[in-house]
Amino acid sequence: LKLGVMISGRGSNLQALIDACADPGFPAEIVVVISNKADAYGLERARMAGIKAVSFSQKKHSSKEAYEQSIDAELRDMGVELVCLAGYMRILGSDFVKGWIDHMINIHPSLLPAYKGLNTHKRALEDGCRFTGCTVHYVVPDLDSGPIISQAAIPISMDDTNETLADKVLPYEHKLYPYAVKLIAEKRINLINNVVHIKGYED
Ligand code: GRF
Repeated sequence: LKLGVMISGRGSNLQALIDACADPGFPAEIVVVISNKADAYGLERARMAGIKAVSFSQKKHSSKEAYEQSIDAELRDMGVELVCLAGYMRILGSDFVKGWIDHMINIHPSLLPAYKGLNTHKRALEDGCRFTGCTVHYVVPDLDSGPIISQAAIPISMDDTNETLADKVLPYEHKLYPYAVKLIAEKRINLINNVVHIKGYED
């Protein structure tokens, strides 16, 4: 399965995907990494792995739509079959999203549908949650709202802070994302009434 990964920053989830794809038995490969920020460290990670890495600046386009059309064209030129959002920090327009419906996934640092959007760990702490987690889900036009593919739940300690919680959750993200890609690549996912069913699922 050919992957296009979209990032904005440090790219640790991208790195997890690069590392997973380095295993010859892993059923996917990254063909292009796209960032909206030219200085994203994730672009370096891609180049170090010998993967095409490009940045697109919205400022160099006449509109958000034109900017996203350029990204779309790059993904299609590279033969991308699944778009993986990995810390891409802009909200994608509905035309772009509709063009990749069922072929674009995202990783989000909360147990969706709780805590869509930003500052998930801070909000979970403020609400006194005892668990948080991370979710890989299909992307639909509504933010962080598509069908859930995989999740990990992580207990919150009394002395956790935003930072300690982010540090606890991140290693689970790095396991969860390659796992979700593998499920898709192996065609083990069925969407029934917008709910993901996984063939041969063992929890
Ligand atoms: C991760 O926490 C991810 O869940 C969220 O953005 C962050 C990206 O981190 N969508 P990284 O760039 O993959 O290190």
